[in-house]
Amino acid sequence: MSSEERIDPWGRPDIKDYRRLYEVFGIRPFSEILEKLKSMGVEPSAFMRRGIIFGHRDMDVVLNAWASGEPVAVVTGFMPSGQFHFGHMLTGLQLVFYQRLGFRVFVCMADAEAYAVRRVSREEAIKSALEEFIPNLLALGLDPQRTEFYFQTGREGPYHELIQLFSAKVTFNEMEAIYGDLSPAKVMSALTQAADILHPMLKEYGGYKYVVVPVGADQDPHIRLSRDIATRMKGEIELTPPAATYHKLIRGLDGGKMSKSRPEATIFLTEPIGEAVRKFKVSLTGGRNTAEEQRRLGGEPDKCPVFDQYLYYLVPDDSELSSIESRCRGGALLCGQCKAMGAEKLAKFLEAHQRSLEAYRDKAQSLVELPKY
Ligand code: TRP
Ligand code: SF4
Repeated sequence: MSSEERIDPWGRPDIKDYRRLYEVFGIRPFSEILEKLKSMGVEPSAFMRRGIIFGHRDMDVVLNAWASGEPVAVVTGFMPSGQFHFGHMLTGLQLVFYQRLGFRVFVCMADAEAYAVRRVSREEAIKSALEEFIPNLLALGLDPQRTEFYFQTGREGPYHELIQLFSAKVTFNEMEAIYGDLSPAKVMSALTQAADILHPMLKEYGGYKYVVVPVGADQDPHIRLSRDIATRMKGEIELTPPAATYHKLIRGLDGGKMSKSRPEATIFLTEPIGEAVRKFKVSLTGGRNTAEEQRRLGGEPDKCPVFDQYLYYLVPDDSELSSIESRCRGGALLCGQCKAMGAEKLAKFLEAHQRSLEAYRDKAQSLVELPKY
């Protein structure tokens, strides 16, 4: 496999052609799951309907298990560092969706990975998890009673044994074929993530035979590794290859990535509302050079970071979204007016979120076991 056909989960996620993922890596189009959900009487989420979640592996298997009443879980992880932002929110809301269907929720604070590959200090990881990630996830609607938060370095017992068992199930060459350039830190992080994904299947953690992992496509190498390892544990521990769904990352306000290191392009859920609105108002758009040109040619919402904020979060109503889209394309809606409307929606959204956050600010401490060192 050539290096172009590899995905680097620790690099800059820059996946332009999502269809290649179907052809090269065998990710299946999510459209087939949309149909299945409807036939099961489940209303797909906006992310599903709008094509933001574009691919999956074995989601049909998990849904069949769920429908026949088997215990099912959803697992994800975040590297806790800095503030929770619009990029993280996409995964958070997916957890809420599955929780409402009755899935057990496991949320990993990937502090070992953050330390190993991003040099995030112990203090920073713990502070960010307790003050930002956990409270914001709760404020998005996760039920604390039915969610298991844990730190990678604070998880006891069989979880750590899994990492050691897994290390014997895969060769360095195989890992290089999946990840490319490796280091001991990356090997450890990958095997730890396999344990994150697979440990809910152990009876000590509830024995959830079916697990789905909602991730950005950049995390697919970890999904493939976990699936291979699950199969190879046969005869020692019975593990089912985990399912996954894949989403497209939301664009930052400058058209690049949203991340903590790019604050001007990123909307943080706890930042002062005036600050968020200011950044939003100077966002890149899919508009033309002059108003005249835009009236004549129309805007390009599919290239517009402002439109992305509507598509992902700020315009939950499908008919309102399609009206914005068609007025933009038709040249009737100009960017100034569009941003003024969007800024109001953003301010309202953040106000409501920050209000509900108050109730969860001091809750995190009691919901998660702290690492002991
Ligand atoms: N590697 C993930 C990231 O970079 C975080 C993570 C750790 C994770 N464990 C996980 C994601 C388990 C999904 C499932 O963000
Ligand atoms: Fe983007 Fe709105 Fe301008 Fe269209 S009108 S390009 S959606 S900012």
